[in-house]
Amino acid sequence: MADHEKLLPDWMIGLTDRIMNYYIEKNLNLDSVILDRHPEPQPGHEYMMYAHVPFCHTLCSYCTFHRFLFKEYKAREYFINLRQEMQMAKDLGYEFTSLYIGGGTTTVLEDELIKTIEHARTLFPTIKEVSCETDPAQLVSPTFKNLKGLVDRMSIGVQSFDDNILKMTERYEKFGSGQEIFERIQYAKELFPTFNVDMIFGFRGQDEGVLTRDIELLTQLNPRQITTYPLMVTSQTKCSVRNTIAAPSSDLAKQYRIILDTLGKQYNQLTSWTFGRTNDEGIDEYVVDHDEYLGVGSGSFSFLGDSLYVNTFSLRRYHERIQSGKMGVERRRTFDKHSVLQYRLLLGLFAGRLSRKYFREVHGVNLDRALWKEMMGMRLAGAIKDDPNDPDRLIVTDSGKFLGLVMMKAFYSGMDNIRAALRKPLSSSDM
Ligand SMILES: C[S@@+](CC[C@H](N)C(=O)[O-])C[C@H]1O[C@@H](n2cnc3c(N)ncnc32)[C@H](O)[C@@H]1O
Ligand code: SF4
Repeated sequence: MADHEKLLPDWMIGLTDRIMNYYIEKNLNLDSVILDRHPEPQPGHEYMMYAHVPFCHTLCSYCTFHRFLFKEYKAREYFINLRQEMQMAKDLGYEFTSLYIGGGTTTVLEDELIKTIEHARTLFPTIKEVSCETDPAQLVSPTFKNLKGLVDRMSIGVQSFDDNILKMTERYEKFGSGQEIFERIQYAKELFPTFNVDMIFGFRGQDEGVLTRDIELLTQLNPRQITTYPLMVTSQTKCSVRNTIAAPSSDLAKQYRIILDTLGKQYNQLTSWTFGRTNDEGIDEYVVDHDEYLGVGSGSFSFLGDSLYVNTFSLRRYHERIQSGKMGVERRRTFDKHSVLQYRLLLGLFAGRLSRKYFREVHGVNLDRALWKEMMGMRLAGAIKDDPNDPDRLIVTDSGKFLGLVMMKAFYSGMDNIRAALRKPLSSSDM
C-alpha cells in the first residue's frame, strides 16, 4: 500500500482547513432581507429540485442534518405543505429534470412520500430520476417495496458493518447488527435501479482491519453506488462527537488511502467520496451534477444564479408561510463573480472533473487567469496536472481527490454553521 504521506502532508491539510474557514466566514453568512419566494427561473437553464424531509424515528449524535424527532401529525401536515410548495414552484415557471428527496429519513411515512413523488412527477413530467434516503430499519417495513417503480435511486445509511462502531454510535440497538443490515440490503437492493450505501470513515477504533472488512462486505453486496463520507464534526455535534466517537484528524489520510486502494480499484470514482459501478451513474452528489437547484421544505438550500437561498428551519413558520401563500424560502446570500468561480472550482476538484471548457463556455472566463492563485496552489500541492491528450482537461490526482475531500468536508461543515445559527433560536413550538 502506498504511504499515506504521499496523499497530502498534515501541515497542508491544516493549512487547507484554515483557508477554507477564512472563505467560509467571509462568504457563508446571510443577507438580512426576508423573502417571500424564490426568483423566477431563467430561460434555457436546467434545474434540479431538492425536497427536504426533516424527520427521523431516532436521532444520531454525530448527525449534522436538519431533522426532528418524528411525530406523525406533524409529518403528515408537513408533507401536505411540501406538495403545496412544489405547486408554487410550478406556478413560478420552474421545470425540473430530477428530484432529490433528502433527510432526515425520507421514508418515515411511506404513503405520504409516495403521494409526494406522484405529485411531483405529475407537476413536472420532465423529471427523469427520483432519489430518496432511508435507514436500515425501514428496509424491513412490509410496505417498503411499494416504493419500487417510483424511486430510481435509494440511498441507505449503513456507516459501518462493524458492531463495535454501530454500538459506539448507538445505531446497533436502533437499526440492528452489521450482519442483519447486510442481509436486509441483499434483499432491498434489487428493488431499485440504483441502490447506494452510505459509509462513514473517521470513527475512533476504525483501524485498517475494520475498514478493510467493511470494504470486503461492500464488495460482496456489490451495490451500484457507495458513498464514503469523512466524519464531519461541526459546531452542532462537537460536544457529542469530538474525543468520543471521532478519530484524530491525522488518521483521515491513512483511511482514505485504504479506500482508494481497495474500493477505488473495483469501482469508478465519481467524486472524492462517491463510487459507482459505471461511469454514468445519473444522480449521485446533486450539487455536483446540477449547477442550479431549487430547494423545497424546511431547512432546504437552493443555488440559483449567483445566490444561495435558505428555507426556514422552523416547522411552525414553514406551515404558516405555506398556508399564507409564501414559499419556505426566507434568506439569501448573493456572491460576487470571483466567489462563484471559486465554488465551481471546488466542485470540479471534488468531482475529479476539471474542465477549462466549462469555465470558458459557462462562466466566460479563462480558468488559469481568473483563478490563478488557486490554480497555482493546487499545482504546487500536486492536486492537478495537465492532460497531455486534451488541453481543455485537467487531471485530478489522488492527492487532488483527497484535497477535494478535505475542502468539501470544510465547506459542508461551514454550511452546518448556517444550520446551527438558524436552528438556535428555535423553541419547542417550532419543532
Ligand atoms: C441525511 S442522512 C440519511 C440516512 C438515514 N437517515 C440513515 O441514518 O440511515 C445521509 C447520510 O449522511 C451521512 N452523515 C450524517 N451525519 C454525518 C456526519 N457528521 N459526517 C459524515 N457523514 C454524515 C451518513 O452517512 C448518512 O447516511
Ligand atoms: S443519521 Fe439518519 S437517522 Fe440518524 S439522525 Fe441523521 S438522518 Fe436521522
